[in-house]
Amino acid sequence: MAKSVMDRGSIKRYSNEAVFDELRKIYGGAYDKYRNDWETAGKLQVKEERPSHLLMELTSHCNMLCKMCYRNYVPERVEGYMKMEIVDKIVCEAKALKVPSIFLGAGSECLLHPEITLILKKFAEVGAMDYWMISNGSLLTHEISEAIIDAQLTVFSVSLDAATPETYEKIRGNGGKYNLETVTRNIMELINLRERKNKMFPRIRLSYVVMDENEHEVERFKKQWDEYVDMFDFQALTDYALYEKIIEDVSIEEDYHCPDPFSRIVINYKGDMHPCVSNFYRPEEPVNIQDMSIKEYWYSSAIEALRVAVKNRAFPKSCTRCVAARLAMENTKKW
Ligand SMILES: C[S@@+](CC[C@H](N)C(=O)[O-])C[C@H]1O[C@@H](n2cnc3c(N)ncnc32)[C@H](O)[C@@H]1O
Ligand code: SF4
Repeated sequence: MAKSVMDRGSIKRYSNEAVFDELRKIYGGAYDKYRNDWETAGKLQVKEERPSHLLMELTSHCNMLCKMCYRNYVPERVEGYMKMEIVDKIVCEAKALKVPSIFLGAGSECLLHPEITLILKKFAEVGAMDYWMISNGSLLTHEISEAIIDAQLTVFSVSLDAATPETYEKIRGNGGKYNLETVTRNIMELINLRERKNKMFPRIRLSYVVMDENEHEVERFKKQWDEYVDMFDFQALTDYALYEKIIEDVSIEEDYHCPDPFSRIVINYKGDMHPCVSNFYRPEEPVNIQDMSIKEYWYSSAIEALRVAVKNRAFPKSCTRCVAARLAMENTKKW
């Protein structure tokens, strides 16, 4: 792929610029405007007129038990799946607001949702310029691949973290239950189906959290996948064991600026809305989409209070947790 390399500190991205050129061709200047507005809102700490980005957890369940995952460290949660009436409400409101970026699959394994093919179709109705989904790829069937292509997902992202079956087994295998061969086959079948249907999208992103077990395989991984995929993200590991140790003593640096409350809303499987990912697992005063619309929430005093606090550097506990996770990350960067 003709690659550009972007080092954002905790993530090093290699991507095929043709993907973005294609989006610019489809959406014209609107695509660059949305990306630019998102960046600017974060930098200036001024909210956008509507969230640029909705990040959705479709279920709290996961079928894997990856060794580094934050799920190993969060308090036990009630497990469930997003109800279709909540999906419908989000889709209807996001469409009316012309939300430009939809992301499915935060914090769990979204392909476990029994209605995943219908959900893919419904979120396509939003008409977002960026429509992403992240998955571990183990449950990707022919039917789901069809639905992904038909929904014109922009990017389907699969987390692999390994170039060899042995390393995959150590990180994601869960005692031999899952293997790299199956996930690789699933990804290749999606790519082949996309070619057969003569479609440009979804482009494929692979993600790789770099840690002791897999850092020696980074170059091999790039070579293996280079001709097939459009984006690799190598991510710094957040060491949650370290996080637990430092959380009580974290102080936030002067130059820390959080973009989240100014540009996005996170919605969990119950329909609880949050102004950032930090509140995802330890919700403080959640507001449910059945009680308040996304637009009302965006302009509500609850989220505005957080924006003011972030701007005035009077950070609440939820921000300290987020910064602790970043600090636990900086100490583990391995490239
Ligand atoms: C929690 S998963 C949810 C989506 C899906 N289940 C998957 O594995 O891609 C989202 C991303 O977080 C990454 N991740 C998990 N634990 C991490 C950690 N401790 N540090 C950095 N990234 C992590 C995963 O590798 C994955 O790319
Ligand atoms: S598959 Fe994703 S959510 Fe599940 S344990 Fe692994 S990294 Fe965490």
